[in-house]
Amino acid sequence: MFTIANISKEYPGVKALENVGFSINKGEVHALVGENGAGKSTLMKVIMGIVKPDNGQLLIHDKVIDINSPKDALKLGISMIFQEINLIPTISISENIFVGNLPGGKIKFSIDWKKLYLDTEAILEKINLKLNPNDNVSKLSSGQKQLIQLAKAVVTHPKMIIMDEPTASLSTEETEVLFLLIKELNKKGVAVIYISHRLEEIFEIAHRVTVLRDGKFIATKNVSEVSKDELIALMVGRYVDILYTPKTHKLGSTVLKVRNLTQKGLFQDVSFDLKQGEILGFYGLIGAGRTELAHGLFGVYSHVEGECLIDDKVVKVHSPKDAIDNGIMYLPEERKEQSIIPLMNIMENLTISNLKEYCRFGFPDINKEIKISNIYKEKLNIKTPSLKQKIMNLSGGNQQKVTLSRLMVGNPKILILDEPTRGIDIGSKAEIHKIIEDLAKNGMAVIVISSDLPEVMAISDNIMTMSHGMITGNFKNTKSLTQEDLLRSACVEESGICT
Ligand SMILES: Nc1ncnc2c1ncn2[C@@H]1O[C@H](COP(=O)(O)OP(=O)(O)OP(=O)(O)O)[C@@H](O)[C@H]1O
Ligand SMILES: [Mg+2]
Repeated sequence: MFTIANISKEYPGVKALENVGFSINKGEVHALVGENGAGKSTLMKVIMGIVKPDNGQLLIHDKVIDINSPKDALKLGISMIFQEINLIPTISISENIFVGNLPGGKIKFSIDWKKLYLDTEAILEKINLKLNPNDNVSKLSSGQKQLIQLAKAVVTHPKMIIMDEPTASLSTEETEVLFLLIKELNKKGVAVIYISHRLEEIFEIAHRVTVLRDGKFIATKNVSEVSKDELIALMVGRYVDILYTPKTHKLGSTVLKVRNLTQKGLFQDVSFDLKQGEILGFYGLIGAGRTELAHGLFGVYSHVEGECLIDDKVVKVHSPKDAIDNGIMYLPEERKEQSIIPLMNIMENLTISNLKEYCRFGFPDINKEIKISNIYKEKLNIKTPSLKQKIMNLSGGNQQKVTLSRLMVGNPKILILDEPTRGIDIGSKAEIHKIIEDLAKNGMAVIVISSDLPEVMAISDNIMTMSHGMITGNFKNTKSLTQEDLLRSACVEESGICT
């Protein structure tokens, strides 16, 4: 049994953890939930010896243990899959998986490359990845990278694995692989601490669940004895109304016309119209080509075949700058890698895309910056002691809220949001949906790419489905539209409907 006892950690202005304590049993999946900024990742970093707590102890079988570095944790049989991908992009898959643990060769300090290759092949097969162990990790999808992180944690033969939002970038099939592996580990007596904002997963995989709120321990429950509503109430401290209200506003004129947009091998013959005030959902399975299409619209590929018309004028978008100049803004899927500036503070991150408006005589207009930043801090419930906090010190979900706010501050004509609520807690998710709707009500045209089917259905006026880089369906989001309709349409194989 692993026990966390009275752990506290304070940062300037934030009590990240206050006297937190609970135990994890051998062979159980113990879920850890709480809103963005509740202290989940900080607590896990304490267990891994990355964050030094101000107070408290860690115990294994009632014996106090000392963990001052991830190496210490590893020695005690604890490994972790981090919320942020932390693989080394320039080295091979096998070296990433076995880093610090490379099999030795016959000669001292040498490496048994053949064994490394074979061991990697075996673990890749287990996680259902058909990749060459010698490949570089830089070219892998975020889901594949996440599975490699999993492999890396598993090969150390841990007694306990911590998983911090492991499914955030996994497809449905990849999630199944993960769940199978968790079950197998459980059978061997390995304990898993499982952090996720997707509550359905917790009901599927976890035995017990612990709730943190504002750095405090709230409760540990048996999953079989708690309902989803109760769990949300424990997390948020109130019952949240996550019912969506139907939209009533009328759509305006067509802002964007896309005709036969094609980028060989990524998407093909994509055509659609987007109106002022419209929220157009793009649903598809991971790998359907939705993100690539968004990249195409945002000028990430220097030359895309086909045509885009904005306000009936043909526009040439050869770079993101062209896109922004034409009033298009894009929230990328991989926020960490693509859109935050870690060392800048929240205010600077918020106004960077729109500096002209927040400068006077060439200098930042601090008052204006503070005003707008406070508005969004309030609106999106961004948890931080100060707007001058470096964004890298915010919790994962709160960083995303800042990025999302930045785009809104820019007030574009067309806003493309790729998985806007990934990693966002359930209370804020409803807030973000409301904000997107308000933007649309005020005339912005919004494209929302999401793998979260209830989300797409809750906020879109119209929904396009994609599969294999092609549009496979175009639906008006009326009451009679069902999840099955969309799933079936998103699941069309090149040769017909997939089973
Ligand atoms: N290095 C740091 N410096 C200052 N504050 C920090 C630091 N690390 C974490 N915090 C603060 O501690 C609190 C808890 O953050 P933590 O990352 O543990 O939240 P979380 O529960 O993992 O949230 P999320 O669901 O968004 O990932 C937050 O308010 C965060 O801003
Ligand atoms: Mg976290």
